[in-house]
Parts: sequence; structure tokens; C-alpha cells
Amino acid sequence: MVINTHIGNILDQDQDAIVVNLFEGVEMPSGATGAMDSALDGGIRKLISGGDFKGKLNQTAVLYPGDTVGSQRIILVGLGEQDALTMERVRQASATVAKKANDLGVRRLGTILHGTGAGGLETEGAAQGVVEGSILGTYVFSDYKTDHVDGQSLEELTLVEFDDSRQKDLERGAEAGRIISEGTCLARDLASMPGNDLTPSALADRAQQMASQTGLKCEIFDEGRIAEEGMRTIEAVAQGSAQPPRFIVLEHEGDRPDSTPVVIIGKGITFDTGGISIKGSDGMWDMKFDMGGAAATIGAMQAIARLGLPVRVIGVVAAAENMPGSRALKPGDIVKSMCGKTIEIRSTDAEGRLVLADAVTYAARLKPTAAIDLATLTGACVTALGHEASGLMSNDDALADEVSAAGDRTGEIAWRLPILEGHRDLIKSDVADIKNTGGRPGGALTGGAFIEAFVQEFPWAHLDIAGTAWIGSDRPYIPKGGTGVGVRLLVDFVRNRT
Ligand code: BES
Ligand code: MN
Ligand code: ZN
Repeated sequence: MVINTHIGNILDQDQDAIVVNLFEGVEMPSGATGAMDSALDGGIRKLISGGDFKGKLNQTAVLYPGDTVGSQRIILVGLGEQDALTMERVRQASATVAKKANDLGVRRLGTILHGTGAGGLETEGAAQGVVEGSILGTYVFSDYKTDHVDGQSLEELTLVEFDDSRQKDLERGAEAGRIISEGTCLARDLASMPGNDLTPSALADRAQQMASQTGLKCEIFDEGRIAEEGMRTIEAVAQGSAQPPRFIVLEHEGDRPDSTPVVIIGKGITFDTGGISIKGSDGMWDMKFDMGGAAATIGAMQAIARLGLPVRVIGVVAAAENMPGSRALKPGDIVKSMCGKTIEIRSTDAEGRLVLADAVTYAARLKPTAAIDLATLTGACVTALGHEASGLMSNDDALADEVSAAGDRTGEIAWRLPILEGHRDLIKSDVADIKNTGGRPGGALTGGAFIEAFVQEFPWAHLDIAGTAWIGSDRPYIPKGGTGVGVRLLVDFVRNRT
């Protein structure tokens, strides 16, 4: 979708459809919607008084104005109550409209910015939200459909603002929205790709390709280099598979290449069978998205590079396939991690924390100002929070607050969970320094505690995205499938560190 901006009057736009909005309970529309109503000879007021349109969030109506307005159709969208307006609602309403436009076969759509009038939102943020909702809401994963009919007619979206003093903000917000959405869509594509095509080496190739397009530095460790580095936990997970592991490092220098970086760490299990502690076959197909943390890391790095953020950020991904081959890791095995800590394997299905152990040790070398790992780590986190929020665990309250604020702003909610001394006790081993499972109670928290054991003296946050990286039913701007969760949160987090 091509995104344009325009300073002028929405009524003069020559588009296949133009968009105006209405808050719930408003009987006399004002602003652009009021002007539209006048041009329609009270047509919008009639819709309201007749009870056909209440302005409820995501409600839509389509009007055909005739010659009084430059465009063929008008799409009216409800924003809900005025005092309840949030960026989340702007994204939702924009997505609803964009999907409606696709249904109508609209190719060129013009829209006002939702919420910048009576809603009190800033132009830049609203422009970003409108673009995000439109791109993310109309996303489809159709790479494997051979008929190429994806139901997408919408080609061009023009954001129209009347006040020319807002032009710079409009352009900046639209550009950011596009870049951040494209990073999210990249993450969605990766998460939705099947395990036979998205192997660890294919994931590394995609990361490398993205890096060369955006000017990021990229280093890929192959299985030989992984062995040399002593990344035994990554080798251990990969050894039951014919697919070799990869370790991916992406670097964005920002404006101070010598500064201490923000490090993003992604779990990149391209398929998780459980290994010898094999999973049940029902629903196992979903485990192709067990690289959702890696997808978020790669998508966020793309967006951070394209936005040219002045912060040094390094993304690392530990990629492996968890299979029960004849050389596979076994329960009871003891593995020596890169930092020297020994790990008793209780379940080969707790593989994510294993690959993250060495990834976190690698991250420590980079002397992070903050490190955030993202991982589809535990079914227990899905039980605790459902698909509504990611689990957030951290050794640093200030960092946890920053991450959860970024989650609130982006709608990618991160809900803090505790790691208590008792949780750490549950992963003590009789024979090694630590064991990789702590049993059913507090499963998300013992998962976090395990990773924490490899974290040295730096602020660290862990996002368990097992429930949020994939959804089974559509949301306004998140179609079912891979969600790309984490990309928008991470980019917002980094932008707020500038
Ligand atoms: N990838 C899974 C976790 C998962 C479950 C992600 C459901 C998305 C949806 C992870 O590797 C795993 O198998 N975790 C185990 C840990 C247990 C063995 C301690 C789990 O949650 O059962
Ligand atoms: Mn597993
Ligand atoms: Zn897993």
C-alpha cells in the first residue's frame, strides 16, 4: 500500500472513497464530518437521527454523495465515546475502514486523521496510528496460495490534513507508521512461514537479506562458529535435527557506535516438536511460530534501521529446530553452557530457555544498557494471561516500567509477573548447577527464573509471548495467524530512549 500525505480539504479529494468519523452520541457533527454533512445536505445527521448510525467504535456506514463532493463514496466510521478515545481506537477504526474499502473494491482511499480535532490527539501520533491500522488491518499471508487472489483492492492511502502548520508532523507520523507496520508485517510473514521452508539457515538468510537492504551490520554464526564459541546449549537443542543451528547478530549503530547498546534477544525455534520429550500431535502444527521472538527481533531491527533512530541497538537470534532425531538431547543429559554453568535436562521440550541461556551470555559481552528477550516460552504463560498480554519479567523495575509503558502505548500489553526466591528454588538441580524445568506450578516464572540465572549485571526484561505471537481469530488490526507482536513495542521502547 502506497501512503501519501496531503494538505487541503478532504471534500475536494478525488478518491474512490473518503473517510470521516463520528464520536458516539454526537448529533451535530463538526469539523470535517460537519462540512461533509453540509455538503450532503444533512445526510449524516439523518443517519444519526434515524438511529442507523450511533458512532460506536468500528461501526461503519457508506454514503454516495453525488456531485457535491470530489469522491465517489464516503465511509463514515464510529470512534466510540469522545473521552474514551485512545491511539488503540484510532488503529482499530482505521483498520476497520481499510478492510471495508477492500470489501468495496476501493483502490484509492483518502482519510482525515482520527482524533486530532475534538479527540485531542497529536497529529504525528494520529497519522502513525491511521497508517498502522490500515496496513496491519489489511495484512494477509498469501505467499502459499497459488491462485493469487487475496481480496486486496486498496493500493493507495492518502492522509488529508487541513492545517498546513501540521504538515511536518503529518509526514513524520505517516512515515513512521509505514516503517513500523512493515517491520510488523515482516515478523508476521516469518511467524506464518512453515517449518519446512523457514529452517534456521533460511531464517538467517532472511535476516541477512533484510540487513543488506537496510544497511544494518549482520553476522551469522554457522554450526562451526557456534561450536567454536562454545554455545553448547544451542548445539544441544539442534543436535536432534538434520537442520544446523544459526546464531544471528544484527547491529544498528545509531549516532554513537561506541555507546553501550540496547540488546534485543529472540528465541528462534523454527519448529518445536518437543524433542524426545515429544509433544502431542494435536495442534503441533502451531509450533512453526516458535520463532516469534526471533521474528519480532528481526522486524524491529528493520524498523529501527529505517527510522534511523539515534540509539545503538543490537539484535541477536538463537535459531534451531527441536527434533527427536537419533542424536537428540535426552532427559537426564547434562549440558555445559557457554558461561560454564551446567544444566540438567529434565525436559527437551523446555528448549527455548536453553538456546536463550547462551544468547543471554553472548549479550552480556556486548555490555548492554538494557537487554530484552522475547520468547514463545511457556504454555503456562498462555494459561495465566491468555492471548491478551505478554508476560513481563525483569530484574530491574525501571526497565520493566519502560517496557510496560511501551506496551500500553502500542496496545501490545506486557503484564508484569514476579520471579520470587521460591521460583528460583524450583529449578535447583541435584546433579548440575540448574535444571531446565521447575514443574507445573508457576511455569512461566520458573522459565523466567532460568533465563535470569544467565543474566549478569545488566538490566534485563523477558517477554513471554507464547500467548500473543499467534492468535486463532481475527482482531480489528491483527488477522488470525502470526501477530508480529513485539515489533511495535520494541520500536516504541527504543524511540522513547532518544
Ligand atoms: N514453545 C513452547 C511453549 C509454547 C506453548 C509456545 C504454547 C506457544 C504456545 C515451549 O518450548 C515449551 O514447550 N514449553 C514447555 C515448558 C515445560 C516443558 C517446562 C511448556 O510450556 O509446556
Ligand atoms: Mn518446547
Ligand atoms: Zn518452544
